[in-house]
Amino acid sequence: MAKKLHIKTYGCQMNVYDSERIAEVLAPIGFKLSDTADDADMVILNTCHIRERAAEKVFSELGRLRGKKAEKAAEGERMILGVTGCVAQAQGEEVTRRAPFVDLVFGPQTYHRLPEMVARAAREHGHVLDIDFPEDSKFDSLPPARTVKGAAAFLAVQEGCDKFCTYCVVPYTRGAEYSRPPEGVVAEAHTLVAAGAKEITLLGQNVNAYHGEAADGSGWNLARLIREVAEIEGLERIRYTTSYPAEMDDDLIAAHADTLKLMPYLHLPIQSGSDTVLNAMNRQHTGEEFKNVVKKLRAARPDIALSSDFIVGFPGETDADFEATLKLVEDVTFIQAYSFKYSARPGTPAALMDEQIPEAVKAERLARLQALLDTQSLDFNMRAVGQVFPVLFDRSGKLPGQLIGRSPYMQPVVVAASADLLHTIQNVTITQAGPNSLMGELVDDSQRACA
Ligand code: SAH
Ligand code: SF4
Ligand code: F3S
Repeated sequence: MAKKLHIKTYGCQMNVYDSERIAEVLAPIGFKLSDTADDADMVILNTCHIRERAAEKVFSELGRLRGKKAEKAAEGERMILGVTGCVAQAQGEEVTRRAPFVDLVFGPQTYHRLPEMVARAAREHGHVLDIDFPEDSKFDSLPPARTVKGAAAFLAVQEGCDKFCTYCVVPYTRGAEYSRPPEGVVAEAHTLVAAGAKEITLLGQNVNAYHGEAADGSGWNLARLIREVAEIEGLERIRYTTSYPAEMDDDLIAAHADTLKLMPYLHLPIQSGSDTVLNAMNRQHTGEEFKNVVKKLRAARPDIALSSDFIVGFPGETDADFEATLKLVEDVTFIQAYSFKYSARPGTPAALMDEQIPEAVKAERLARLQALLDTQSLDFNMRAVGQVFPVLFDRSGKLPGQLIGRSPYMQPVVVAASADLLHTIQNVTITQAGPNSLMGELVDDSQRACA
């Protein structure tokens, strides 16, 4: 009988990708995914260390799982508890100390060795800790089989980061920048499309720094990789994330003009509009340089829209610095954004900087920034009303006879449509807009569901 595996994923899309691959590594040894931790034979938490709150969530979840593990033990059965992801990498020892009932602690670069770790955990008492940065890439050993949940799939092409922004844990938790050889990426894209993917998002912590080396010795940049993947028949949409502004080269910008499958939407984190703060963050670009990149992108693809990330209350951020962020947002306009209060992370240079900003100031700045960003996204959504968007339906709606899909700009679009349109792209006239989603009607009305 198949054993039940439950994986809970926190953090970024890279973790979502890793969780899928972990399930694929464990399938041959008899584990089948389950939606719940209840009664599971193995529970894995794939964790995020980016902000303090993200990391703390893991320990409270572990507290809950301890009870479930004990219930299972009372029935004479075993629940294997594993922690992976960036908390495991950064605080592996602490996890085993604070939660000694955890059986496996492994980093994002070692999960291809899971079958061996599971066997060891079954044989030995105590925990297995595997948080190396191995010489050989896990991508060389992962199974080629790929599963696709909906019609949109993630594909990791690059991992790690050498940028060392002074606030960020990623260079420590994911290690040095590594680009997968292009042949492996293209082969995986083919597998994903054969398994039903209509949309692929190429992933990397610094995806536009991609520089894969092919077997013939040639170097591929991200633009070349995108153009090659775009040749795959049956694949309709390509996205890539997350990009570093200073790595947006002209070839990649040109790909936005010449590759129609590349969606007109780009996530380009800026963090702050103040050059003083950007410099203290070690971001290696100014606000003006960022605006220049945006200008070139808009020249290449006039309908491109942007989203971004912001940090408020970075150490030393003055009122004037913060005003510069608001000004940049007004000048550039973003249709979506993630904004956060600066969170001091152990081991990062910014955590030791003088002039940490009081919580109340951070909260006030965050509220002002989010209010401005919200008006920009609502404004963009309102302007969609009356337009026709191709929508990729990827899940059922709340009401019967409804499907929800994504516009080219990632807006969720709710439409009355029959279930057989799930995982297809249809033209939809947008009829209503809210702050977080759109409503629409199928252009080809014959395919509407009879609710
Ligand atoms: N590689 C990407 C994103 C990395 S993490 C990039 O360079 O932009 C995702 C986002 O989390 C970052 O863009 C940043 O806005 C936020 N973040 C990272 N460290 C943080 C910290 N210590 N406090 C608050 N937000 C942080
Ligand atoms: Fe972190 Fe900066 Fe690297 Fe992004 S570029 S992952 S923010 S260090
Ligand atoms: Fe979090 Fe690690 Fe991603 S810290 S954001 S899970 S790279």
